[in-house]
Amino acid sequence: MINVEALRASTPGCAHVTHLNNAGCALPPAIVTDTMVSHLRLEEAIGGYEAYSQARDRVAGVYASVGALVNAPIERVALVESATVAWDRGLQAIAFSDPLEPGDRMLVSGSEYASNVLPLLQLARRTGASVEVIPDGDDGSVDVEALGDMLDERVRIVSVNHAPSQNGLVNDVVAIGDMLRMHGSPAWYLVDACQSVGQLPVDMGRIGCDVLSATGRKFLRGPRATGFLVVSQRMLDDLEPFPLDLHAATWTTLDDYDLAEGAARFESWEKAYAALLGMGAAIDYALACGIESLAERISLLARRARTGLAEIPGVVVRDRGSVQSGIVTIRVDDPAGVVAGLRGRGINTSLSTPDYSRIDFGRDQAPGLVRISPHAYNTEAEVDRAVAAIAELVR
Ligand SMILES: Cc1ncc(COP(=O)(O)O)c(C=O)c1O
Repeated sequence: MINVEALRASTPGCAHVTHLNNAGCALPPAIVTDTMVSHLRLEEAIGGYEAYSQARDRVAGVYASVGALVNAPIERVALVESATVAWDRGLQAIAFSDPLEPGDRMLVSGSEYASNVLPLLQLARRTGASVEVIPDGDDGSVDVEALGDMLDERVRIVSVNHAPSQNGLVNDVVAIGDMLRMHGSPAWYLVDACQSVGQLPVDMGRIGCDVLSATGRKFLRGPRATGFLVVSQRMLDDLEPFPLDLHAATWTTLDDYDLAEGAARFESWEKAYAALLGMGAAIDYALACGIESLAERISLLARRARTGLAEIPGVVVRDRGSVQSGIVTIRVDDPAGVVAGLRGRGINTSLSTPDYSRIDFGRDQAPGLVRISPHAYNTEAEVDRAVAAIAELVR
């Protein structure tokens, strides 16, 4: 059970704004900022490398925190600067070590994020492979049976997001993993957990994907420019990341090198340790709250928003999915104007535009959407105030 008052007391931003933009970048709890600032002060006082030496154990703890969050061994965790970098590192390893050929197929969900589709389109152009969209089921999420029908030995990549940045649905990434295994598919399975970590349980062991990518700043409430990648044992056994740096591998002789142990080979040498320690603090905070409890409260607030918004003339709640996330999107005549009007009233939301997810937006030609994404620290009164303000703005 979430203690909302305690969450708010530990979140300084709650005193200043009604922040319903947690799918963009959440308000961090004070422990996140304090952790970062104290590491920066240490760097200031004794030097960056020396500060790292002192913080080494705590940095190791961040890998353990990620492992606990997504149920994965720490050797398979890499710390990076964003979800996109995490996902790209996985794809680069595939493209380098297991190159695609003409006729190969890459399957994506219908609500895939632009930064995940663009590199696949690049690969398709260069190799003669194709990008195909997995049909939606009746509820709008990935149709797992239809995916099964599409699978053959030419399907080399399956890329699905757990919770899209728009449209409210949650894809059944466990069932998709089960389907791939049932068919004995050789495809590399990439799961974008950017919007799900921190608001929904994410279990790498059950999903069984090869690449799980996530960011620190959204529902996890960590700092900007933090993220992580978790890879399968198969990624470590069969693939080599590209390009390697001197942390990812050791240059052993003039013309040879040894790969680093575990997922460190997917990382860079240089890291923003203050930020990564901040992400670790955010994960520990979320784990202490309990992911199931967070999920329950976020879902309650999102349902309240959907119900209230659905009653407003001139507002269409655009969300789909039989399981829904804390991301609520609505169609209105002037979405940018509504987001700006809300901002003027101290309410943060965001604007989702078609270039972020072309396939999804192509369905109903929505020109843009207002996205309302509550977190557990928001109150029912804040949600109601946002709903009332939207009613006023669309009048
Ligand atoms: C579903 C999804 N995937 C990936 C990303 C990219 O995350 P990042 O900006 O951390 O690279 C986003 C960002 O909004 C997202 O919503």
